Amino acid sequence: VAQQLGHGHDGPMGTGVSDRDGRREVAAAALVDSGRLLLAQRVSPPELAGRWELPGGKIEPGETPAEGLSRELREELGIEAVVGHRVGVEVPLPNEMVLRAYAVELKSGVPVALEHAAVRWVGVDELADVDLVPNDRAWVPALVELLTRG
Ligand code: CDP
Repeated sequence: VAQQLGHGHDGPMGTGVSDRDGRREVAAAALVDSGRLLLAQRVSPPELAGRWELPGGKIEPGETPAEGLSRELREELGIEAVVGHRVGVEVPLPNEMVLRAYAVELKSGVPVALEHAAVRWVGVDELADVDLVPNDRAWVPALVELLTRG
């Protein structure tokens, strides 16, 4: 279907940029370390600047979600990370994109804000009070569970 619609790349899950419906994936990291979740503060667009998100970005053609998310975390935060299981619901985005979160573990490095205004670690008790970007709010219950379980 993706190829028929003309905006898919290589179809099968896990090897391409689009899913079965031809949607491009944006992957975001639920990076938990020592019982706290990493958040990054957006610098743009104006309506999102100053708000906090799970760091990540668009998966490129030929990348698996794990590869693409690892690359984004290297570029944005200067860390090496291990991408694990999906977390929470998928969030439909405009322009045939879909946003998915993954549990991520820190392999090496200390996250620094290379493309964000700041980074911060939040505990489960702080999460409800953070000014998250609207798309990421759907993940709060799953993030609470992830932080509580660990
Ligand atoms: O860095 P790149 O251009 O690949 O991606 P991005 O601009 O950071 O994210 C692509 C889209 O996903 C934008 O519309 C972001 O607002 C959205 N996004 C989001 O809603 N929540 C996240 N945690 C990450 C991205």
